[in-house]
Amino acid sequence: MALNIKTIREQFPALALKDEGKARIYLDNPGGTQVPRQVLERMEHYLIHTNSNHGGPFRTSAESDKVLEDAHQGMADMLNAKSADEIIFGANMTSLTFAVSRSIGRLLKRGDAILLTRMDHDGNVGPWLHLADDLGLEVKWLNFDLETYEYDLTEAESIFKNNNIKLAAINYASNCLGTINNVKALTEMAHHSETLVFVDAVQYVPHGPTDVQDIGCDFLACSPYKFFGPHQGVLWGKAEMLEKLEAYKVRPAENTAPGKFETGTQLHEGQAGTLGVLEYLEWLGETMGAEYHKNFPEFSGRRKNLHAAMLAIQDYERTLSSSLIEGLQNLAGVDVKGISAGKDLARRVPTVSFTVKNQNPEEIAVKLAAENIFVWHGHNYALEAVRLMGLEESGGVVRIGPVHYNTLEEIDRTIEVLKTCW
Ligand SMILES: Cc1ncc(COP(=O)(O)O)c(C=O)c1O
Repeated sequence: MALNIKTIREQFPALALKDEGKARIYLDNPGGTQVPRQVLERMEHYLIHTNSNHGGPFRTSAESDKVLEDAHQGMADMLNAKSADEIIFGANMTSLTFAVSRSIGRLLKRGDAILLTRMDHDGNVGPWLHLADDLGLEVKWLNFDLETYEYDLTEAESIFKNNNIKLAAINYASNCLGTINNVKALTEMAHHSETLVFVDAVQYVPHGPTDVQDIGCDFLACSPYKFFGPHQGVLWGKAEMLEKLEAYKVRPAENTAPGKFETGTQLHEGQAGTLGVLEYLEWLGETMGAEYHKNFPEFSGRRKNLHAAMLAIQDYERTLSSSLIEGLQNLAGVDVKGISAGKDLARRVPTVSFTVKNQNPEEIAVKLAAENIFVWHGHNYALEAVRLMGLEESGGVVRIGPVHYNTLEEIDRTIEVLKTCW
């Protein structure tokens, strides 16, 4: 195994905390991850040394602007964007999606259709439903298969063929089922019908290398706080699309991307912190990801290290998925709501949701919390997915979401505690 988990854990101060002598087991990561020291150092340095608004002729403003430029370039490397100008920072994925959906709406007209999916988090559903309401758009839904927990690509093809779909909002990895979707194939399909493709990659970016040029989509959104950074959102858009879109902006603001979409004063210390997490991942790729560098012959420098880091993380996390799913399946009454066969684990992230016969998900989460094991329960904003599975009334699912800083011992401990929960 490439990753040295002990060394990795030492980078994250929060992982060493104990409460009444009990270690914290963070399995709430799909809701937000802990941060490495590089994030803390970057944020502190920003606020002490370079705290300023944008565009001034004095030292702090110039240095602050340099941090912002680096953060944009860093995210361009992380996502393999062509240019830092394609990277838009904002409060979070949901706010960015609401904002850009208004701009995209200017390209659409009454009677056009959009495709939404039953697998998406509401952050990639709600903004488009509002747009459909405002403009009189038709909404077509792509379901997922209740046995395989994947989209049916032939169903998708037929929706694109038989409707005037102008925009498809699709999900890279599900925050509920854990499925990794073939967003490249869906994008190709959509582009045959000249449909714009908006990918929600919030739950994929923490678990694997992301390459917007390879996917070929038009927009892709993610959230640094889900990949070990501060509370921030990032939207990538293809340069020609960003140029074409009219931004909802104040008049003195820049007329070019990314500035025209970054309304008001940004969370500069958040962008500094995002740069910190990229430094952490770069370090990981450089020191522990050497064997993965060959997978990215076209990249060099930070871009290569970031992508190698994410591939190393992906490989390690499969051991966590496998152990977690196997442990859960050995417990009486458990129904794992996602891809479970060992041979198929490459098509999922380690976020695992499950129900237990005659048990309430919230009560299970509360019992785990009493042992300092942090997990989420309910619908986790994957409203459509939980409804399609018929679980809304019964309290949704229990969701256990390890990331690369979690250990097999933590998974074992969680399964041991679960044995006492019902
Ligand atoms: C798949 C997915 N999309 C979107 C979001 C919303 O992200 P944000 O909190 O940055 O708006 C989340 C948050 O959990 C998510 O899991």
